Amino acid sequence: MSWVNRNAVMETPPPLLFESSGTRWRCFGFDNVDEFAARSGSFADLLIRARLARENAYAPYSKFRVGAALLMDGELFSGTNVENASYGGTLCAERTAIATAVATGRRKLEVIAVSTDAAAGSAMDMRTPCGLCRQVMSEFATPDLIVLLDGGNDEDGSLLGEVIRFEALLPWRFRL
Ligand code: THU
Repeated sequence: MSWVNRNAVMETPPPLLFESSGTRWRCFGFDNVDEFAARSGSFADLLIRARLARENAYAPYSKFRVGAALLMDGELFSGTNVENASYGGTLCAERTAIATAVATGRRKLEVIAVSTDAAAGSAMDMRTPCGLCRQVMSEFATPDLIVLLDGGNDEDGSLLGEVIRFEALLPWRFRL
């Protein structure tokens, strides 16, 4: 009997649902709603700021615009993807936002929101940060870093979003 199941798919427990100030959140990696409810005050605002940042994306090659907005040491910063004709020189939105904050002396990443051009209600894996960005987040992550994803708007106009505990997004991360 093999001890590795190559076909194993990591099981994601069903999300907890949480509603606040016109936003419906699906929450992953939390034991109970209270854990994130206590911090949810600025979450909708960050999501909107990530959407606004997306408007400035430079994405002439992929046409896939991404915006990020984050809180580092309590200060707000934003970023967009910045593509390059070489393709390999492309920077993701999350990393431009983090680099901007770090360049002004900030070090503690508390929450980061990401908004992409993926259609409203699209699969989460079209909207989650890439592996490279997750590793860069890890460098500055506070122990309870939260990642917010923009899920578009519901038919009734409500904002849709995901709240993900960073540990759930990048388990077994590399550290020195
Ligand atoms: N992109 C991001 O900005 N963040 C991610 O986490 C994933 C991908 C950008 C890079 C590229 O400009 C475009 O999305 C398509 O991959």
